[in-house]
Amino acid sequence: MTTEDAVTAPGATEAAVSAAAVSEEAVDTVTRQAVDSLSATADPRLRDLLTALVRHLHAFARETRLTQAEWERAVGFLAATGQACTDTRQEFILLSDVLGLSMLVETVHGHSAPGTTESTVLGPFHLTKSPARELGDSIDLVGDGEPCVVSGRVRAADGTALPGAVVDVWQADPHGFYDVQRPDAQPPGNGRGLFTADTAGAFWFRTCLPGPYPIPTDGPVGTLLEACGRHPYRPAHIHFVAKADGHAPVTTHIFVAGGAHLDSDAVFAVKDSLVKDFIPTDDPCLAREFGVPNPFRHARFDLVLERA
Ligand code: BEZ
Ligand code: FE
Repeated sequence: MTTEDAVTAPGATEAAVSAAAVSEEAVDTVTRQAVDSLSATADPRLRDLLTALVRHLHAFARETRLTQAEWERAVGFLAATGQACTDTRQEFILLSDVLGLSMLVETVHGHSAPGTTESTVLGPFHLTKSPARELGDSIDLVGDGEPCVVSGRVRAADGTALPGAVVDVWQADPHGFYDVQRPDAQPPGNGRGLFTADTAGAFWFRTCLPGPYPIPTDGPVGTLLEACGRHPYRPAHIHFVAKADGHAPVTTHIFVAGGAHLDSDAVFAVKDSLVKDFIPTDDPCLAREFGVPNPFRHARFDLVLERA
């Protein structure tokens, strides 16, 4: 029986009513004391964040009537999440990703000026230094996938080209692995490239069609997904970060239209505007121009940046 039931149930004894009332009052007191304890926080933003956090946490515990055993299990889960973090693995970010928090923060603060490219999550596989490559180079150093060309322009929303813009790209291989996950099967830098757009803001590179892949499931986040009956897959995609002087950088992906898991991305990062056709192209002349075998896939994608 909940406190509310005890208060309103017909025939409830006076003692039960008063015990329930006392307990509600005690609950309010704990929340008030916890909120009041933050009032001297010198940084006003930190005070606001902590106050809201305490209020929401307390409301959650009240709404769900969180039990002691459940609280202990949650604390154990968070401890295991921390213990799974290493220099190369951030299980807490992964937890934030699968709960939709990363994408929510990204969506609230991402660049969404009309006509500009929508942003999405960075993910854990970005390297601070992708290998610098020439326009037209291949980022596929293995060559066991479906040949593919990606081309586009970096421009402002009014159409002005952004020559010299820097386009950082990275992707999984056709089997769904990044170079850092399979150092035995992929040379370092496979699936990665740092390109500089030409005088018309154009960029193009060769690659292979990326595969969908599961986020890491061998830690607490994997256990959580399993408990929720959720799959761990991300739809096939290519990551981009584009930067140009005088413009806000954009961090985004393009997703392969028609691919698996587009409607159930484990980290909720798909936006309709980012789903692109990788068009099957049978054109020997164009294939020769790009230096790929014919036939090949061709994805066109403009990166449209917001003026800073
Ligand atoms: C990724 O696309 O690389 C990624 C993003 C969020 C969580 C895991 C992987
Ligand atoms: Fe990725």
